[in-house]
This record gives sequence, structure tokens and C-alpha cells, in this order.
Amino acid sequence: MARKTMIAGNWKMNCLQKDGVDLAKNIALKVKNNKYNCEFLVCPPYTLLYSVKKALRGTKIALGAQDSHQSDKGAHTGDISPQMLKDIGCEYTILGHSERRTDHHENNALVAKKAQAAYANGLKTIICVGETAKQREDGETLAICAKQVRGSLPKESNATNTVIAYEPVWAIGTGKTPTAKDVEDVHAAIRQVVAKKFGAKTANNMRILYGGSVKPSNAKEFLSLPDVDGALIGGASLKADDFLAIAKSVC
Ligand code: PGA
Repeated sequence: MARKTMIAGNWKMNCLQKDGVDLAKNIALKVKNNKYNCEFLVCPPYTLLYSVKKALRGTKIALGAQDSHQSDKGAHTGDISPQMLKDIGCEYTILGHSERRTDHHENNALVAKKAQAAYANGLKTIICVGETAKQREDGETLAICAKQVRGSLPKESNATNTVIAYEPVWAIGTGKTPTAKDVEDVHAAIRQVVAKKFGAKTANNMRILYGGSVKPSNAKEFLSLPDVDGALIGGASLKADDFLAIAKSVC
């Protein structure tokens, strides 16, 4: 199975109804008019899932959420369950993003539980890992990423239901990026960790995205690396032209 490039947009806490629907329609229009050989995914905030789903009807662009709870339902004020996301038409849920690990104190064990609940409801996951600036300075990048991959992917993870995103925390939204060699080294190391836990076949088929200040001007450098299977894009995914220009650099 060749790994199909994934171009995923993480809209984070951005866009009101009109902006979100316009953005989705704009992306859909541009995707339709071009032949891209990649899988597109957009992950708007919860409030936009329903209207973006409608805007994307008839396209091949998949819909994802930015987090989901570890339970199907119950007394969890303010949370959203994987069952609800499936019901509204999501195919993916992002789990363990560094902003959730920081803002909501999520750890690897919780991310693994959330992933199990997501799979049980037929959702696929994008599980995020990545080191902080301090961990990088201390030479801990590979060890931290390995620990996060081992701890955040439950035994039910496989190459069909799971995508990993390597996102160095210090590169997210900062305009700073690692070198292409650093990215390839981390991705190759992550693939080895997956091989050890799930076997060589799964490791060979599982997609590993790079995320952290990806933009049209640097996309080709990262996306043409052998172990980089696409991008998880924050800021640049809020402009249809930039999002598509990133796809165009590889797909
Ligand atoms: P960025 O965000 O592209 O704005 O750096 C990436 C992410 O957090 O997924």
C-alpha cells in the first residue's frame, strides 16, 4: 500500500459561520478544478462542523474535529464525544495536539483512551507528537517523540485508522521550522517506534505528517522527504490559496 499524501487543515479556534463556510466552499472549488493526487481534510471548530459538512457535500474533502472525549456520552460539561462527531459526518479527529496537551493538561494515557473511543465509533485519528524548544535544546527530541508515540497510540491503532503528526511545539505558529534533515530524522525514528510496537507492515503503511509553520514557500522542502506523508497546517490553512498551494507543491 503506497502512503497517500494527506493535506490537513487545522483551523483551531478561528472563523465564524460565514468565514468558515466561505473558506470551505473556496477550498472545494479549487480542489474540484485541479487534479490533486492527495487526500484533503479540514478540521474546523465544533461550531462549524455542521455547516462546513454541508458546504463540502459532493466533494472528496474529508471533515475532522480537533479533539474528542474518551466517553460516548454522559456528564461531561463542555465536551464532545466521538459518537457525536461520527453522527455529524466527521471522518477524523485530531488527538493530543500540543495546544491540548498544554492548555488542558492532556497526557499520553488520556490521548490513547480518546483514540480507543474514536476507533470504537468508526473515527480515524491524527495523533500529534512533538518536542518543546527546551527538550530540543537538551537533545531529547527523539526520546520525547518515541515516548509520545508509544504512549498515545493504543494497541488498536493501525495504518488505516491512524495518522501521526510530528509537530515540534516551538515551530507551531512561530514561523520557525526545523531543517529538512531534522524532520526526516524524526519521522524515520517515529516510523521505527511504530515498527517496534505494531510491526514493519503497519509502520510502512502508516502516514506521518509534518506540522509547524508549513506554508507554500517551505512545503516542497518538507513534503518531498521520504518519510513525510503530508502536512498538518494551522495558520496557512485559513487561506484557500495557501492551503492549495501547499498541496500543489507535492500532489
Ligand atoms: P501552524 O500550526 O501551521 O500555524 O504552525 C500547525 C498546527 O498546530 O497544527
